[in-house]
Amino acid sequence: MLCLLGILPAYRVDRIHCKQISLQLNFQGNTVQFDPLSPDNTAAYRHWRDSKQRAYENGAHTQLIELDARTPDAESLSRLLDACGRFNFVLYRLAEPALGDKVFVRELGQQLGLQRLDGNLCSDEDNITSIQVMQTGRHTGYIPYTDRQLTWHTDGYYNDPERTIRAMVLHCVRPAASGGENLMLDHEMAYLQLRETEPRFIQALAQLDVLTIPPNIENGKQIRPAQSGPVFSLDAHSGSLHMRYSARTRNIEWKQDALTCEALACMGELLNTNNPYVITYRMQAGEGIIANNVLHNRTAFSDAEAAEQKRLLYRARYYDRVKPLESPQ
Ligand SMILES: [Fe+2]
Repeated sequence: MLCLLGILPAYRVDRIHCKQISLQLNFQGNTVQFDPLSPDNTAAYRHWRDSKQRAYENGAHTQLIELDARTPDAESLSRLLDACGRFNFVLYRLAEPALGDKVFVRELGQQLGLQRLDGNLCSDEDNITSIQVMQTGRHTGYIPYTDRQLTWHTDGYYNDPERTIRAMVLHCVRPAASGGENLMLDHEMAYLQLRETEPRFIQALAQLDVLTIPPNIENGKQIRPAQSGPVFSLDAHSGSLHMRYSARTRNIEWKQDALTCEALACMGELLNTNNPYVITYRMQAGEGIIANNVLHNRTAFSDAEAAEQKRLLYRARYYDRVKPLESPQ
């Protein structure tokens, strides 16, 4: 049943009717309720699908929004929220790139409803991570801290549910000498494309044990247990569709039923062939990405010789989603 709910933000509706999911249709405050894990091709699903596809038609998802780092104005913030509501990600550019420090990243997140920062083994003390090539320390075991390609993933796919990553800010302080592009795909569009190919793919990828990440063992000591869970799930906290995925081929265990294998092959095609919803962007100094943990990757890169010219990104990961545009907070 189609249910347009006027000005109520989607996540609030979901908290009231917690057995039903609401996905935000557009920035004008209309939401539509359907269960994205059910294969029923309901009018509500079709309405959501059509709205989602229409939002991409004029290329608005590729826009870069200019920001004043000192005092982002209300209109710019609204445009960021608007884009995140429609595409689950947005690109921004600071008028003065030199002002893009960690304080800016933290304050920008706060203005978008991103309060609860995730810490991880490689975070700095302020829980904002400096992503750069590291030659020493525990970082060396992790591909983000090398100049190698990062395959498609959503962040925190190895986390337990209490530490679900719902959003992130990725801010470029310095780009690499060459390479280091980011590719992004709105996970709701990946869901839509999979479902339009074969609705049962969604059910396969919603199985609670479809994706298992083996334990993380460092020097013989387990520092994270095995983590098993679905690819697609309903996030009751935010009333949204959550995706948990990694295209890595080592240290990952997929359920081996036939439908899951087919679904994963389809996902591989969506990510690696000419998908019109994938955007590729190489961030310059002072530019960044805000995203509701969409699918993303990074190409390999080459750093400059001088230390002060090497690629440096700040990454903040959050347990919150970017707030809806119409939220009064
Ligand atoms: Fe990532």
